[in-house]
Amino acid sequence: MHRRRSLEPRLALVADWCRPYAVVADIGAGGGQLSRYLADHGHSVIATERSAPGAAVLRQALAGCPSAVVRQGDGFQALRDLGRPFDVAVVAGMGGPTILRIVSEAPWGVPVVVQPMQGWRALRQGLAAAAFRWVKAGLCHQRDRFYPAWMVVRADEGQRFEPLVPREMACHPEYPAWLEREWQRGMRSTRRQKTPSEAVWLEVIGEEVQRWRGKTSLSD
Ligand SMILES: C[S@@+](CC[C@H](N)C(=O)[O-])C[C@H]1O[C@@H](n2cnc3c(N)ncnc32)[C@H](O)[C@@H]1O
Repeated sequence: MHRRRSLEPRLALVADWCRPYAVVADIGAGGGQLSRYLADHGHSVIATERSAPGAAVLRQALAGCPSAVVRQGDGFQALRDLGRPFDVAVVAGMGGPTILRIVSEAPWGVPVVVQPMQGWRALRQGLAAAAFRWVKAGLCHQRDRFYPAWMVVRADEGQRFEPLVPREMACHPEYPAWLEREWQRGMRSTRRQKTPSEAVWLEVIGEEVQRWRGKTSLSD
C-alpha cells in the first residue's frame, strides 16, 4: 500500500479535473507526484519524461505502483506506438512556450490539461491560434502566486468538434446521467417534427452518450 501524500494545490486542481477520466497521460511527469496520486486514486497512468535519466528517476519514483507505466520521449512522441489510448493528457509545471510546443502535437479530440508556471499569455494566444477550444479554466492560489490551468481540446472541422456537446461539464459526477436524460428527453420528442438544429443536437448528444456508456462499462 502506498502512502498517499497530499498534492500541492496547483496539482490538486489538475487531479480534480482528471477525475472523470480512467486513463491519464502525464507528460513531463518530473518526480511523479501527480502520477502517483492519480494511480493511487484509481486511474491508469502513463507517465512520461523527455530524457533517459529523467525517465529512470520517474520509474524509481513510481516503483511499486502497478497502475502507472513510464515512457521516455519528447512530449506526445513518447506515446506513439502505445497500444492503449488515453482519455486525458496533462502537461503541467513547465513554461508556456514549452507547453505550447508539446501540445501542438496532441492527438485530435483528446482533452489536455495545461498548467503553466510562467508564460501563460503566450500559451493562451498560441493555443487559440492553433485551433484549440477551451473546455474549462481554473486558477490556483499557491504560496502567494496564482497559477492558471486550462483544459483544452485540439479540434478542427474535420474532427467535428461539436460546441453543442457541453464537455465543460464532464468533470461533474452527474454528467453521464444528465447527458443520458437530455438525450432521452430529445428522443421522446420524435413524435413531433424536429427542426434541423434539434436533429443535429440529438445526433451529437447521442454520440456523447454512447461514448460515456462505453467508458462506464470499461471501468465497471
Ligand atoms: C518542473 S517539472 C514539472 C513536473 C510535473 N509535471 C509537475 O507539474 O510538478 C517539468 C518536467 O517536464 C519535463 N519536460 C520538459 N520538456 C519536456 C518534453 N518536451 N517532453 C517530456 N518532458 C518534458 C522536464 O524534464 C521536467 O521533469
